[in-house]
Amino acid sequence: MQPTILLIEDDDSTRFGFVRYFSTEGYQVSEASTLAEAAKAIAARTFKAIILDINLPDGNGIDFIAIARTHQPSIPIIVITGSGDIPLAVEAMRRGADNFLAKPVNNAALAVCLHKTIENSERKQQLLVKKNHGWRDGFYFGETVAMQEVLHLAQTSASNNNPVMITGETGTGKGMLARWIHRQSARAPHEFVGINCSGLKGEMLSRELFGNVRGAYTSANQDRKGLLDSADQGTLYLDEIGDMELATQSQLLKVLEEKSYRRLGDVELLKSNFRLICATHHDMEQLVEEGRFRQDLMYRINLLCITIPPLRERTDDIPALVSYLLHELGSSDAVITKDVMSILMAYSWPGNIRELKNVLERALLLSPRGSALSYPFFTVLESDQHQQKRHHPKTLQEMKEQHIKFALKLFGNDVEKAAKHLSISRSTIYRRLKQIEM
Ligand SMILES: Nc1ncnc2c1ncn2[C@@H]1O[C@H](COP(=O)(O)OP(=O)(O)OP(=O)(O)O)[C@@H](O)[C@H]1O
Ligand SMILES: [Mg+2]
Repeated sequence: MQPTILLIEDDDSTRFGFVRYFSTEGYQVSEASTLAEAAKAIAARTFKAIILDINLPDGNGIDFIAIARTHQPSIPIIVITGSGDIPLAVEAMRRGADNFLAKPVNNAALAVCLHKTIENSERKQQLLVKKNHGWRDGFYFGETVAMQEVLHLAQTSASNNNPVMITGETGTGKGMLARWIHRQSARAPHEFVGINCSGLKGEMLSRELFGNVRGAYTSANQDRKGLLDSADQGTLYLDEIGDMELATQSQLLKVLEEKSYRRLGDVELLKSNFRLICATHHDMEQLVEEGRFRQDLMYRINLLCITIPPLRERTDDIPALVSYLLHELGSSDAVITKDVMSILMAYSWPGNIRELKNVLERALLLSPRGSALSYPFFTVLESDQHQQKRHHPKTLQEMKEQHIKFALKLFGNDVEKAAKHLSISRSTIYRRLKQIEM
């Protein structure tokens, strides 16, 4: 279909001339000779662009810019002013026109101007869409195909009530994505209740989930609500579900099957309508194979699985992510030199986005406000990268080991500092060291 432009011009002969010329250029032209006619036209349909004369019988053409924008906020508008009327042209641009030409207007010049203005406006639109694409309500999805798939699945999840499983390495944003899904879902006004299953051993996790009545166990001196109760109508987020003990797994399966539960020590059946989101950095299939996770439970919670790729597999997203994180850290004015950016893009980021955020936070502490972030600080990451390349780590395990060793070296074997740097617990470091020694 031919693009249609709206031509607002009161001089009949000029209008005829434009219409004839633009039809040979492949445009359709809708004509208006007054502001009133123009207002009617823009209300009735959409146009590709507007060519607007200033002196019209029923008013000033500049006033039409705002009217047009209420109908089509980003429509390209070219204003035609009297010869030498620069102040008017300036005023038109200030009011939101995209371009201006002074009379007498040459047809060919107007066609070139029109073409360029439309092209520019389309490019601006594309950039805007791109920008919005990366960021959606506080979560960075980015441009890579894998993350677009994550966005798609997350949106699907937000629109239904099925259980969701989120997998990904540490720091990839599993917890953040779970909250995002909750916020985008119809359950948003209700609670998002999260618990990490790896920290609670024995009956402790069941107590947290189900609650208890007074006297259910020795120290239970009062009735206590469980998380299932708080999550009613909302979302229950079970982090590190792979670490849940088998006994608790059976209890959870029962809740999912029967849609009801009992507080510990109680006979009364309670109901809770929660949406379940689970997360793990484990390979669930492997846990099932090893007999550490119930297969029937896995099938129930794994209906839809969202895998967030590690940061090193989406390095193209790093520059945009860095600017957002700097903004989040209150330092939008910090400068990242090209050299620093190339280090950031080459590094393997075993702690993913959390680690990137930590590194930026520390670099900010070391650099004066508003200046370029200190290059020497980042070279530490670079030397780590070279080391990794030399030793060619084959597996993720090896990579993690190397990374821990490196962090320990960096902080003079101070486990506390190394753990902080890697955003993992000290006990994880000790456990890994033991494994390395074995
Ligand atoms: N997509 C993202 N957009 C913005 N910030 C993010 C994103 N993903 C992660 N982050 C940042 O990284 C931090 C860690 O994210 P989160 O706690 O959700 O990771 P996780 O995958 O749950 O990690 P773990 O497995 O260690 O629990 C967040 O606090 C946030 O600052
Ligand atoms: Mg988490």
